[in-house]
Amino acid sequence: MDDTTAQTQDPDAAQPSGPDLAAVTVAVIGAGNMGGPVAATMLDAGVRPDRLRIANTSADSSRRAAEQVGATAADSRQDALADADVVVLGVKPYQILDLITELRDLIPADAVMISLAAGTTLAQLEDTLAAGRAVVRAMPNTPISVGEGAVGLMRGSSVTDAQHQLIHALFARAGVAVDITEEQVHAFIGAAGSLAGFAFAIIEAMTEEAVRQGLRRDLADSLVQQTMRGAATMLLESGVHPAVAKAGVCSPGGTTAEGYAALEREGVRAGLAAAMDAAARRSRELTS
Ligand SMILES: NC(=O)c1ccc[n+]([C@@H]2O[C@H](COP(=O)([O-])OP(=O)(O)OC[C@H]3O[C@@H](n4cnc5c(N)ncnc54)[C@H](OP(=O)(O)O)[C@@H]3O)[C@@H](O)[C@H]2O)c1
Repeated sequence: MDDTTAQTQDPDAAQPSGPDLAAVTVAVIGAGNMGGPVAATMLDAGVRPDRLRIANTSADSSRRAAEQVGATAADSRQDALADADVVVLGVKPYQILDLITELRDLIPADAVMISLAAGTTLAQLEDTLAAGRAVVRAMPNTPISVGEGAVGLMRGSSVTDAQHQLIHALFARAGVAVDITEEQVHAFIGAAGSLAGFAFAIIEAMTEEAVRQGLRRDLADSLVQQTMRGAATMLLESGVHPAVAKAGVCSPGGTTAEGYAALEREGVRAGLAAAMDAAARRSRELTS
């Protein structure tokens, strides 16, 4: 990330002069697999449940999604959008521009619109909503649902500093929220968006091997998951470079050094780089 990258990492250290989230009204249009956790993290950050309204495709679906995160189901998209300060659009990328066209006159003129859609650019969103309107792209990953995720925020040209601060405050409980450019979003998808899926695959593979080596499955699950979490937490908390931490556990002629040599022989480093590169490349292809 470059020097201009802003981060929101420690919500407890938030300045008292930050936005009053209890006074903010949020409309989430499309609270599914990603819109739901985004709504939940905004509630966790301090938005009042009666001021976070959800509208999906039907009353039943809105009610289910609202109950799941502890928000309010709106009777209609129009009701959800009335007086909203922030409008989150959590529909699929192929739907988003049509949805904006449909809702354009209902979205309050001074609201910030946040799009979660991958591959739809700020220029497309701004052109479809209306010139001069505040638009942000947010690229979250699924670990935001446990407050340990990452969100890449892309700021549209009409977003004021106060609105930018508000968006960071809304994502303060997501894990880490960073400002990125639209060009960086492809690398972000490799390093955070799709990386969550790669991590699940790696953890699964290591768990299966632990079982093959004779550990009970429940034991294998907890040992692998806890060790992965612990290793990441050690790096985050100490700031130590991963290569230094790795050298620290590789005793000469020891088990870890032997295992590490096998990782290199099997091309694990190159395989991980290839996975991240493929995700970034696909993200570029999907951006029309
Ligand atoms: N999933 C991820 O890991 C991830 C990560 C980053 C970004 N994203 C982005 O997040 C967006 C949503 O993906 P998703 O996986 O969350 O999809 P999803 O689970 O299918 O959720 C989409 C939601 O949109 C609602 N919806 C569809 N059309 C609507 C309309 N016309 N009016 C109101 N609500 C409508 C659906 O309502 P019903 O439930 O009633 O059908 C559903 O709740 C996508 O643009 C994707 O690029 C996803």
